[in-house]
Amino acid sequence: MKNYDFSGRVAVVTGAGGEMGRAIVRRFADGGARVVLLDIREDAVAGAARDLGLEEGSYLCAAADVSDPDSVAGAIGRITEEFGRIDFLVNLAGIEGPNNSRTEEYDVRLAEKVFSVNAMGTLLMMRAVLPVMQAQRYGAVVNFGSVSGMFGYQGEIAYGASKAAIIQMTKNAANENGGNGVRVNSVSPGWVNTAMFRRILKQYESTYDDPMENVTFGPMGRPAEPDEIAGIVVFLCSDEASYVNGSNWLADGGMTLG
Ligand SMILES: NC(=O)c1ccc[n+]([C@@H]2O[C@H](COP(=O)([O-])OP(=O)(O)OC[C@H]3O[C@@H](n4cnc5c(N)ncnc54)[C@H](O)[C@@H]3O)[C@@H](O)[C@H]2O)c1
Repeated sequence: MKNYDFSGRVAVVTGAGGEMGRAIVRRFADGGARVVLLDIREDAVAGAARDLGLEEGSYLCAAADVSDPDSVAGAIGRITEEFGRIDFLVNLAGIEGPNNSRTEEYDVRLAEKVFSVNAMGTLLMMRAVLPVMQAQRYGAVVNFGSVSGMFGYQGEIAYGASKAAIIQMTKNAANENGGNGVRVNSVSPGWVNTAMFRRILKQYESTYDDPMENVTFGPMGRPAEPDEIAGIVVFLCSDEASYVNGSNWLADGGMTLG
């Protein structure tokens, strides 16, 4: 496992309370970065910081809702006040919404919720953090797409479209930056072994006799472990990825090869 030197750097990870969030936080902390664990679930980030054994002063827990502009502004204000800079932003927070509902039946309010957390949450976080990075003339943003945002899976129109929006926003923002020391990329995983994956399997139970019937892993025959995705995130943030801007890193073990 490669360790990057992130000493002196500050990383903000949204959705840090989940298993993938924890894996990403650990990678940044191992590289010597100060880390902000941001999540709507305050108890989850406090638990993550405790379980990961983060050192006092090297981290901050921020309870915030990425879909709420005031909540985002408050969190970013606190982070810049405490840590003085933001070098890396990982927009990991996301919700799956319904994954077994056809378009003509899809609950519109739930669709709005999915869009507001996934797409608008990513936009609000970039709006708040990009000016900080631009002033530093240094920064890297990693947004979270999904294979669902690149292909047309059944039963999850809001999730898929919100992830497509995130992949596109990444390209828009990357083209507005790049030359100023700020890079913006996205990662699009296939299945990852987290609480979200387990919740989606539960949803499939109502539609399929065997929920795994609707799950394809491709040639690897398994989902990604959270740390396998975390490794891509820290690479994209590292200076070794200094020429990577506007890319969407597919990490699906080959499941979409056909
Ligand atoms: N698990 C997968 O198979 C998979 C596949 C492709 C992409 N992804 C994407 O990866 C990201 C992380 O997924 P995960 O599997 O770790 O999910 P998860 O549900 O396990 O964790 C997501 C975290 O985001 C937090 N969150 C939710 N809404 C929030 C809000 N409004 N503000 C702040 N925090 C909020 C949750 O509290 C949770 O801690 C998501 O964007 C997801 O869409 C996951």
